[in-house]
Amino acid sequence: MRVTSSLLLVALGLVDLTTAHPFWQDAETVLSASSVSTNQQKADAVKEAFQHAWNGYMKYAFPHDELRPVSNGYGDSRNGWGASAVDALSTAIIMGNQDAVNTILDHIKSIDYSKTSDQVSLFETTIRYLAGMLSGYDLLTGPAANLVTDSDSVDNLLTQSKNLADVLKFAFDTPSGVPYNGLNITSQGNDEATTNGLAVTGTLVLEWTRLSDLLGDDEYANLSQKAESYLLNPQPATTEPFPGLVGSHISIETGEFTDGSVSWNGGDDSFYEYLIKMYVYDPTRFKTYKDRWVLAAESTMKHLVSHPQPRPELTFLSSYNNGNYDLSSQHLTCFDGGSFLLGGSVLGRQDFIDFGLELVHGCEATYNSTLTHVGPDSWGWDPKRVPSNQKAFYEKAGFYINSGYYVLRPEVIESFYYAYRITGNSVYRDWVWNAFVAINATCRTDSGFAAVTNVNAANGGSKDDNQESFLFAEVLKYSYLTHAEDAEWQIQEGDKNTFVFNTEAHPMRVKHT
Ligand SMILES: *[C@@H]1O[C@H](CO)[C@@H](O)[C@H](O)[C@H]1NC(C)=O
Ligand SMILES: *[C@@H]1O[C@H](CO)[C@@H](O)[C@H](O)[C@H]1NC(C)=O
Ligand SMILES: *[C@@H]1O[C@H](CO)[C@@H](O)[C@H](O)[C@H]1NC(C)=O
Ligand SMILES: *[C@@H]1O[C@H](CO)[C@@H](O)[C@H](O)[C@H]1NC(C)=O
Repeated sequence: MRVTSSLLLVALGLVDLTTAHPFWQDAETVLSASSVSTNQQKADAVKEAFQHAWNGYMKYAFPHDELRPVSNGYGDSRNGWGASAVDALSTAIIMGNQDAVNTILDHIKSIDYSKTSDQVSLFETTIRYLAGMLSGYDLLTGPAANLVTDSDSVDNLLTQSKNLADVLKFAFDTPSGVPYNGLNITSQGNDEATTNGLAVTGTLVLEWTRLSDLLGDDEYANLSQKAESYLLNPQPATTEPFPGLVGSHISIETGEFTDGSVSWNGGDDSFYEYLIKMYVYDPTRFKTYKDRWVLAAESTMKHLVSHPQPRPELTFLSSYNNGNYDLSSQHLTCFDGGSFLLGGSVLGRQDFIDFGLELVHGCEATYNSTLTHVGPDSWGWDPKRVPSNQKAFYEKAGFYINSGYYVLRPEVIESFYYAYRITGNSVYRDWVWNAFVAINATCRTDSGFAAVTNVNAANGGSKDDNQESFLFAEVLKYSYLTHAEDAEWQIQEGDKNTFVFNTEAHPMRVKHT
């Protein structure tokens, strides 16, 4: 069932904040504590946060993958190639942070992608390292060309991208062409999985195609598009329970789906995200991808849309498996509003834009209902499963918290950013700012930003000693872009985009420009 636009108006303007959101008072205090008011000052405040985290990373963790922001140690969760540095590159470029950019370019020269002692994730390596370098290359050979004078450092980004893809490409050497995700690059071995996941299989095609287009060598594009071909033509038919909505696992042997479990949650999410982004990247070559996204989007509006009983004006997406609906969702899922907004804008479909805004409002509710005004990692709204100690919270908020962690994820801010850029309505810009201020107040440490264990407890419960590289790549980039001036790399309305963001928020130049 779709919600009418009059219900959307209620969600937009007529909700009584003082009764619906008893904790709003706390956010007023937080907001007035910061003296910034203009967009320029807000953009500068995000730059300050970036510099703070960058300094801490440089001091205690570089060239390791990530900072431990409580103990001031470091971690190497992404093969020890300096994930935070590479992931920070495109944000540093967009912020005009020449110092950080030069440090990162020097570091990338020194990476040997053929060496690591740990298993390599094809997906994570593609979205963080490969995309980070390709985006840096596209920006520094394009609209940010004046930031770096040493053209060798810039050319090296493409050389290293090719080096990395050459290390990884054996992953696709399987009977079907569906890759293994867990790789041993030393032995050219794999984790012996029999299936690969929907998102990890379907979130390679933008990066590997971009690499091919830049090199003029279609080897990499072909590998990723061959894998994707099974996702675009799902077999057997039972694994596509609604048109465009497909199962979660694909056989590496045959390319057939092994289940029909459907969602936009983690594990499935960025497969749908990339269908429409490939069309933005090149509408000529990727029309079929767009058609599949439209089918999925229409089925989602019909079959997965869900409104919590206590607050029917809110919209969340449920998931579906074999006749059963699961009424729970995740922070990761909140990219969905942005995806509907991008698709709606690019295709001129107001129904997708309206639905995207409903999803954005649902995700905002998960933020502005908690004590910290940061949203939880996962939540539910199944009336039969409300935990007894959350009954009052559920009645007011419309959901109960399944995991109260916040691990510096970007998706809610990301979708606010799309909502602001596409509608021009400053409400969504304010929501980005509120989220940024709340994250800064809750997660900040002396050296960076930490994950927290309970967004509905004072100070976020306790701090978890980890700072994922996507803090730099995504949270700080979307927070900054929302308040920064218009630029070529910003999301534009309709068919005017000259960049498209990968799932890690690395902007890549679209093909036709
Ligand atoms: C990868 O394979 C090599 C050689 O067989 C082995 O020594 C190493 O332990 C393996 N690495 C991982 C992470 O399994
Ligand atoms: C890539 O695929 C196209 C179309 O099937 C084919 O013509 C081309 O030879 C392939 N390129 C490589 C390097 O395999
Ligand atoms: C809190 O979230 C609801 C639901 O999205 C929204 O309607 C309301 O405007 C938000 N409150 C504030 C103060 O932003
Ligand atoms: C972020 O936190 C720091 C440290 O508490 C503070 O100085 C700064 O003003 C905060 N920024 C914003 C925008 O609230």
